[in-house]
Amino acid sequence: MPDIAIVPAPRELTVDEGQWLSADPAGEAIRDVVENLGATEYRIDVTADGARLTAGSEDALRHAETTYAQLIEAAEPAADGKVAVPAVRIADAPEFAWRGMMLDVARHFMPKEFVLKVIDVLALHRLNTLHFHLTDDQGWRVEIEAYPRLTEVGAWRDETLVGKMRGRDESEWTYDGTRHGGFYTKDDLREIVAYAAERGIDVVPEIDLPGHMQAAITAYPELGNNPDTQLKVRQIWGISDDVLNVNDATVEFVKAVLREVLDIFPSQYIHLGGDECPSVQWKESEAAQKRQAELGLSEAEQLQGWFTAQVQEVLVEGGRRLVGWDEMVETDCPKDAVIMAWRSAQRGEVAVKAGHQTVMAPCESVYFDYYQGDPATEPLAIGNFIPLQKVYDFEVIPPSLSDEEKALIVGTQCQIWTEYMPDEQQVGYMLLPRLSAFAERAWGSPRTSYDEFLTRLRPHLARIERIGINYRPLD
Ligand code: ACM
Repeated sequence: MPDIAIVPAPRELTVDEGQWLSADPAGEAIRDVVENLGATEYRIDVTADGARLTAGSEDALRHAETTYAQLIEAAEPAADGKVAVPAVRIADAPEFAWRGMMLDVARHFMPKEFVLKVIDVLALHRLNTLHFHLTDDQGWRVEIEAYPRLTEVGAWRDETLVGKMRGRDESEWTYDGTRHGGFYTKDDLREIVAYAAERGIDVVPEIDLPGHMQAAITAYPELGNNPDTQLKVRQIWGISDDVLNVNDATVEFVKAVLREVLDIFPSQYIHLGGDECPSVQWKESEAAQKRQAELGLSEAEQLQGWFTAQVQEVLVEGGRRLVGWDEMVETDCPKDAVIMAWRSAQRGEVAVKAGHQTVMAPCESVYFDYYQGDPATEPLAIGNFIPLQKVYDFEVIPPSLSDEEKALIVGTQCQIWTEYMPDEQQVGYMLLPRLSAFAERAWGSPRTSYDEFLTRLRPHLARIERIGINYRPLD
């Protein structure tokens, strides 16, 4: 019998004696949503009499189907045109509610068809959240009817830096001379949301603010702190000092944008960024200084928390929940904000100790823009080193937390930042199969050994190939 290769591995799998001779190579099975299982639980029972899939919800039944399809691959031809399906019992449920992947389509635009393939890959791995990073300094990717220049202007950059920003001597930097850009219409996004929903995946949009807004400020200079300066959609990477101003009109602008975003994305969660927001321009701006004084804030940095609180009123009106990068913890953000810990696992500890539900997304473990092999032979990447085994060994929950604090860790997420991923081939190469190892941790698969994981991963690569997405071959 070929080995059973389910990825991510179910929490409990018992192989029984015997087999079921199925007349259908796809192994027809009884499928039921039942009341005696929790909403995330499912069972698969294969005996000599047949196969039965039961689950506590339609979502969990979908997971049962995905697992069952992988189990059926272990069936072998038998007599009379039948196939012999191994008798197994599977009792399974995910450890974490948030099992996500972030895709940055701002630094490099990715076609809709590719996003749909990414969703297929997430579904294959029983992941449930696509965090869609739609805006950044280098491009604005979501159509907003009230402000057409966001995409007419903000979705396009004239050219892009070649290679890394080595040194600070700008005269040494070279550019590719190629216009890059693109955006999703509302119809595109609704199609993506519907395609994902059919596969049990929630699309969480991110509008990154008040930093990482250079593309928007290029389109509408009045949003910036130096409205007389015409910026360009950013052509280099790194952190821009050009952040939103804190005027009432800018708050209203962003609120109008968010209302349109909420109209496209039904997700309970809306991500408002909050990372890497320098306050240098607020310190220099008379209007920002005035606002700071009016609000009685001692530091210009505190304007970020104020700004986010203003615009998140739209989320409250719409019954949605704010998600933000871990810098938000330092900005007096609402207590019910879900924090995404990216700068380190330790930042996740800080977030839960401050009482926040937290998604662990630490760069040292699950940033898939980092190298996965020797930089001398790998395509250009941002730096650092996260090989496949390091992802497999990732501990989602920092061990020092108390049980009460651990309960605030709602899940985990891997990140694809695309500064150095110009196309879908490169995204696939950086994503897979690290995502397969990540899925084991997000699901809470039993830790066996890295070698055992590799024995399941090798046949699993064919499933990834069938989706038609690139991956990095195993070493
Ligand atoms: C981030 O990597 N700036 C969230």
